[in-house]
Amino acid sequence: MKKEKPLVEALQQFVEKKPVSMHVPGHKNGLLSNLPKELKTALTYDVTELTGLDDFHHPEEAILEAEGLLAETYQSDRSFFLVNGSTVGNLAMIYATCKKDENIIIQRNAHKSIFHALELVGANAIYVTPEWDEKTKTYTSVSTETIKSALEIHKNVKAVVLTYPTYYGVASKELQSQIEICHSYNVPVLVDEAHGAHFIANKDFPPSALQLGADIVVQSAHKTLPAMTMASFLHIKSKLVNVEKVNHYLRILQSSSPSYLLLASLDDARHYIQTYLESDAVYFFDRRKLWVEALQSIQSLEVVEVDDPLKLLLRVKGYTGFQLKTALETQKIYVELADTNQVLLILPLLKNGQAYPFADLRMRIKDGSFYP
Ligand SMILES: Cc1ncc(COP(=O)(O)O)c(C=O)c1O
Repeated sequence: MKKEKPLVEALQQFVEKKPVSMHVPGHKNGLLSNLPKELKTALTYDVTELTGLDDFHHPEEAILEAEGLLAETYQSDRSFFLVNGSTVGNLAMIYATCKKDENIIIQRNAHKSIFHALELVGANAIYVTPEWDEKTKTYTSVSTETIKSALEIHKNVKAVVLTYPTYYGVASKELQSQIEICHSYNVPVLVDEAHGAHFIANKDFPPSALQLGADIVVQSAHKTLPAMTMASFLHIKSKLVNVEKVNHYLRILQSSSPSYLLLASLDDARHYIQTYLESDAVYFFDRRKLWVEALQSIQSLEVVEVDDPLKLLLRVKGYTGFQLKTALETQKIYVELADTNQVLLILPLLKNGQAYPFADLRMRIKDGSFYP
């Protein structure tokens, strides 16, 4: 019978044996650790590449099976677990497609890991400027015209790197046609989808870049799925990219001692999104709608909805986002980020019946007396 979570199950079977550690890590299944007891308990699972637990860089057992299920879930040719965030995925995808002095098209508002990759590889970056979006008051995606003209002007481009969606949840409607244009030049499209691992949940989320034809897609599972910080995915579906090259650079760039807590949480997050049902989506959208309406009824508050239903922007007239963030923190509400105009919230991707303290949050936000 196919296992639901091969890696989690392999770990559980291992821990149930009550094994005695004569190996790394030095905390010896938590025994020597002085961490608070909840953390110490988790260390029982913080093991290493032991018999039955496979090899991260040459998987043949549970990790191979788990990554196979990941590829099936996202419908890729090959998918990888990442233990160093989307950061390492972004580095590897650029290393795998581009060499020193070769041309690569990069959107100017890319994440710093993209710029770090350029510095390390020594590639020749051709910068393209994104469009300004008045609704979110942010720079978002690059226009199709801009990409087309960059490809026409510059020859021998090895890859185009795009961010989709933006941190603020804006998902360009032009991505598919942009990918088609790049492919007509035989240029692969590498998408930093750090904020979109949940897009395959349901049709009311934007489509995933992989569904739109992107060649390599990197996702921070930890940002929007229930995965531990740093736990991320990389997917390949391409005729233009060499899978083994990506694999090669991931082996170079990632630790030879991967955290099994992170790997298990990736297996668990994959299972979470793979089993996300229509009834889960109905429940999530229902909760979300009620909460958004409740927030909209607070007079001083401006609520901005974006393409990604998991993201919301809040503004209060006369206050910067930084002031609003500080004020919310006095109510013990911690937001994702603040800028001069607003704060950004990330909602939980709830499944049917899961509770979240929305009513309590609304009460705390409503008490406008704490605004600066
Ligand atoms: C657009 C984007 N790409 C990549 C990253 C890096 O992701 P990670 O933190 O998983 O390394 C981030 C992190 O904030 C991001 O916002």
